[in-house]
Amino acid sequence: MEPGLNIKVKVVSILIFILSTGSSENDLYLNFCGTWRHGKGSLTLSVNLSPGCDGVSISANKTSLSIDGKITAQCRRSDVVSLEQYGLGSQEDSYFCLYWEPLLDQLKLQVAGKNLTLCWPASIQGSCCTDLSHGSNTPYASYGIVNGSVRNDTLNDKIMTAYEFSGESTDCKKLCDQLNQGSTQVNMVENPLAAGYVKHPCARSSEVVMKKDFRGFNVTSPAAKGEPAEPLITVYIPPALKQAAKNTSKVAFSFFKNNSLFQDGLEKVKILNDVVKINVENEIIADLPEPIRIGFHHDVVPKTHARECVSWDTRKG
Ligand SMILES: *[C@@H]1O[C@H](CO)[C@@H](O)[C@H](O)[C@H]1NC(C)=O
Ligand SMILES: *[C@@H]1O[C@H](CO)[C@@H](O)[C@H](O)[C@H]1NC(C)=O
Ligand SMILES: *[C@@H]1O[C@H](CO)[C@@H](O)[C@H](O)[C@H]1NC(C)=O
Ligand SMILES: *[C@@H]1O[C@H](CO)[C@@H](O)[C@H](O)[C@H]1NC(C)=O
Ligand SMILES: *[C@@H]1O[C@H](CO)[C@@H](O)[C@H](O)[C@H]1NC(C)=O
Ligand SMILES: *[C@@H]1O[C@H](CO)[C@@H](O)[C@H](O)[C@H]1NC(C)=O
Ligand SMILES: *[C@@H]1O[C@H](CO)[C@@H](O)[C@H](O)[C@H]1NC(C)=O
Repeated sequence: MEPGLNIKVKVVSILIFILSTGSSENDLYLNFCGTWRHGKGSLTLSVNLSPGCDGVSISANKTSLSIDGKITAQCRRSDVVSLEQYGLGSQEDSYFCLYWEPLLDQLKLQVAGKNLTLCWPASIQGSCCTDLSHGSNTPYASYGIVNGSVRNDTLNDKIMTAYEFSGESTDCKKLCDQLNQGSTQVNMVENPLAAGYVKHPCARSSEVVMKKDFRGFNVTSPAAKGEPAEPLITVYIPPALKQAAKNTSKVAFSFFKNNSLFQDGLEKVKILNDVVKINVENEIIADLPEPIRIGFHHDVVPKTHARECVSWDTRKG
């Protein structure tokens, strides 16, 4: 009996191994790196992104690195950015990485040791584009991308003109709800949730509709389920916002739990609390007669440490 039992156990363990290797090929997020072989002189970055889940193409030639695709939930961007200020044009090879975080609709490009945010983190309501898998190969050339890799697995060591990835539409809202239910639940979510994701919970959001007789409003950050009474953020919206927002009455609030999203390149500084994003549908509002007030709570900070309020203008890279 015993030898037979052993054989069965072996078969089972081999199967498990194969299955888990197979399913870890794709991932929720994309982390693509490569070396851009370019000419000397002025270089540009061309970005063309729109909502959808058709996929993304990362291509490069002598003068331009291009990121084109339909992978975002909300982010829309189409522009050409000069890379002159990063001093890439003095060599012929530049290492770069592209980070796609679908649960936050965030896309970052790391080049010359800096992260440029191409799409800012947002709160995703419906589906998002995950599991980007490498598609067709493109021809070799004398300029392009060398050693293209996904999470440190080299895909090709030749100089390729482009790498294409196609995605799969996933219900992000559902996934985020599962993530927000605390770490015990997170472990039960299927495999693609790599460890990194547990540390990057999705944004929590709420929306306020300013009615005709709007007299101001207080919004409190929604508490993550399963977390014991954490200090909340309060945002006060003054009545003046209703008049200033000409074309809409909706104000959206997103609260981002993990601040490392916003902390690139700042080693000696630490963000103490959640980050809040206030969005009035496609409108730019300035000079309110009464300010928007945001209340944060944070742990005790030693007097020797300086404190400062910071903000980001998401219209800039
Ligand atoms: C390089 O790519 C950019 C953007 O796709 C394009 O506008 C430009 O004409 C290309 N340059 C060369 C030399 O092929
Ligand atoms: C590509 O990878 C190989 C092997 O790791 C390395 O020897 C080579 O220098 C790399 N080429 C570039 C341009 O980074
Ligand atoms: C990926 O490779 C880079 C460069 O070789 C290295 O610095 C980095 O630590 C590696 N990352 C992982 C997750 O192995
Ligand atoms: C909002 O909160 C502030 C401070 O707690 C309070 O003084 C104010 O009356 C509240 N406003 C509204 C419209 O609820
Ligand atoms: C206001 O909304 C209307 C209809 O939705 C739209 O046609 C118009 O362009 C908007 N105006 C501004 C300034 O956003
Ligand atoms: C955010 O995530 C980083 C790692 O990605 C972790 O070191 C840090 O403790 C997290 N911060 C918060 C406030 O959860
Ligand atoms: C850029 O962002 C990625 C992903 O969040 C991070 O792993 C990397 O360390 C950042 N690079 C720099 C230079 O801050």
